[in-house]
Amino acid sequence: MVRIREISVPNYEKVIEGSDENGFLAYIAVHNTQLGPAMGGTRIYPYPNSDAALKDALNLAQAMTYKSALAENKLGGGKAVIMMDPKSKNREANLLAFGELVDSLNGKFIAAEDVGTSPQDMEIVRRRTPYVGALQTDTSSGDPSRYTAWGVYRGILAVAEKLWHRHDLSKKIIAIQGLGHVGSKLAEILFWQGAYLIVSDRDPAVAHQYAHLYGADVVEPEDFLGVRCDILAPCAMGGIINANSIPKLHCKAIAGAANNQLQTSENGWELMHYNILYAPDFAINAGGIINAASEYDEGGYNPKVARDRVNHIFDTLKRIFSISEKEHKPTNVVAEELAEKKLRRKANRD
Ligand code: NAI
Repeated sequence: MVRIREISVPNYEKVIEGSDENGFLAYIAVHNTQLGPAMGGTRIYPYPNSDAALKDALNLAQAMTYKSALAENKLGGGKAVIMMDPKSKNREANLLAFGELVDSLNGKFIAAEDVGTSPQDMEIVRRRTPYVGALQTDTSSGDPSRYTAWGVYRGILAVAEKLWHRHDLSKKIIAIQGLGHVGSKLAEILFWQGAYLIVSDRDPAVAHQYAHLYGADVVEPEDFLGVRCDILAPCAMGGIINANSIPKLHCKAIAGAANNQLQTSENGWELMHYNILYAPDFAINAGGIINAASEYDEGGYNPKVARDRVNHIFDTLKRIFSISEKEHKPTNVVAEELAEKKLRRKANRD
């Protein structure tokens, strides 16, 4: 039996903690449902303590609100985290308990996959609640990471246009951190576009596997941020761009899939100071949620419609870069302001 406790957090619509006597512990943060139900990933991660898990859920949920607002996909923002060793023997039981937690919100939150969860995991969650998206059924949108990776590629083209006035990525050096669901697919796309790749993964076997596949160089995780490259593509965990790491960067742009790459919003100003173009994470990594949101289209999910919407990430980033230059503001601030404007517009209409 899952115990559910509500936690009051300013500026969040609803935050709940679920736990049980077998050690299950999870948080769901619903940040904002003004534009629609909050859809967000489910992260399984061995957080050091419950505070760290809750904090991650809160930060990621807010980013989801901005991501969906900017992408205009009629969804709100929320996120779930399960504090668990990914290799735990209780995985299935915990996923079922998580399904009950999701169900308790009656559709205010729709769970999808994220770091540490797979489409198969979400099938298990689905046994306890209908509020699960991005499944691999005939009517569902499937693995979001294909679309996330494609959206990041489209964002990288916008970066290339801004910096080099052309879309040609051949001979550009692109360093990818994390070769999981998204990073591995991004590497495949960039390889065929002629980019020269540098790859890094916490798991050395994975890094070497992709280095072999794409003729890439491998860099150790601890050396990744200092690597000399044209574009740094973080596709692992967040918070890696901060006051300590920024002076060590040797890239011209940052454009990757990881959520919450900047530790604080201030880091955007520092990147600007160092003349590093930043593609705001919640703008460039929206491909997966855009695809999942397409499940709710009248007439059902159509991959071609989803693809065309994801392609639009290129235009969104071009707009952000252009406003940033005109108004001398960091790109992350511009993206936040654009998302806030869309939320305000909706509030005024209601
Ligand atoms: P994943 O769990 O499949 O892959 C993450 C990879 O990063 C793993 O291979 C892991 O070994 C590696 N890694 C972790 N820490 C590392 C480090 N310090 N250095 C190098 N490698 C490290 O996750 P996924 O789905 O590929 O997501 C990656 C990032 O993109 C996450 O931040 C996620 O929130 C974000 N994202 C994912 C979306 C999706 O469609 N899957 C959608 C939008 C954002």
